[in-house]
Amino acid sequence: MSARLIDGKKTSKAVLDELAETIHRELGGGRPPGLAAVLVGEDPASKIYVRNKMKACDRCGVAGTVAQLPSTSSQEEVSAVLDELNENSRVDGILLQLPLPEHLDARPLLAQLRPDKDVDGVHTINLGKLAADDPSGFVPCTPAGVVELLERYDIEVEGRRVVVVGRSNLVGKPLALLLMRRHKMGNATVTVVHTRSREVPERVREADIVIAAAGSAQFIQGDWLQPGAVVIDVGIHRLPEDKHGKARLVGDVHFPSAVEIASAITPVPGGVGPMTVAMLLSNTVLSWKRRRGV
Ligand SMILES: NC(=O)c1ccc[n+]([C@@H]2O[C@H](COP(=O)([O-])OP(=O)(O)OC[C@H]3O[C@@H](n4cnc5c(N)ncnc54)[C@H](OP(=O)(O)O)[C@@H]3O)[C@@H](O)[C@H]2O)c1
Repeated sequence: MSARLIDGKKTSKAVLDELAETIHRELGGGRPPGLAAVLVGEDPASKIYVRNKMKACDRCGVAGTVAQLPSTSSQEEVSAVLDELNENSRVDGILLQLPLPEHLDARPLLAQLRPDKDVDGVHTINLGKLAADDPSGFVPCTPAGVVELLERYDIEVEGRRVVVVGRSNLVGKPLALLLMRRHKMGNATVTVVHTRSREVPERVREADIVIAAAGSAQFIQGDWLQPGAVVIDVGIHRLPEDKHGKARLVGDVHFPSAVEIASAITPVPGGVGPMTVAMLLSNTVLSWKRRRGV
């Protein structure tokens, strides 16, 4: 058996095209949605992520801007930029690209974001709203992207056993909350496993849907899966270059063995990654609409 591929690249393009249509339809004589990224330092992966986010802005007609700050910036300097963006009426969404250089403390900076511009969904107010089933917040982009993929591939979650591997505040925990909601893409029976869990392979084998967000390259093996399980791989890892000098990206799941057992699976790259960007733009357009009262 070879699993159906869940194509995040194609799906993210569809989401961005729909957003472009919404913006075009509702713009009138007004200003377009605005997304401001704050990038501190020269981390190569962060630069690529921000560049991809800006490309997505261009694709759907969002005014994207990058505040690039030197790696030597002080906590106060970054804080001052966030203050300015919080006040800027042309900015609907602010994202602080992580990780920050080591001398900076991300937590107070994230807490300083206006929750109604926190389109990454990382402010504790937004995480609290998610936990309280209050739809007026923003859902973090990677978990939102996972649920969007499941929905667009008609993979039902209601009443099914979902195992989430990982409990981070950014991915695992909000995903578990989303899938538990009383919602058409919720009502799942969710188990969350982490490094202190016993018998992780056994728990994974019980799952109809496995969501891997452990940050450990290719560690979930095909023979851990129930035949026909759906596998969503959030992990991204860069392996050393092969003999042709080509860098390889892999996920948390050992794809070659899992693809033989699963009924559907996301590839890495081209699975959850592009959906994260699409959901950031979706949250930005939502923020814009809320600000305009549409
Ligand atoms: N595709 C995207 O857009 C996107 C976005 C964000 C993250 N990611 C990727 O997704 C992965 C997870 O990200 P994250 O930010 O959630 O990572 P994280 O903060 O490192 O959290 C990893 C979680 O997995 C658990 N874990 C680690 N090894 C495990 C094991 N062997 N068995 C069971 N649980 C284990 C950890 O448990 P403890 O809590 O006990 O330590 C922790 O809860 C990373 O590869 C990251 O690069 C991708």
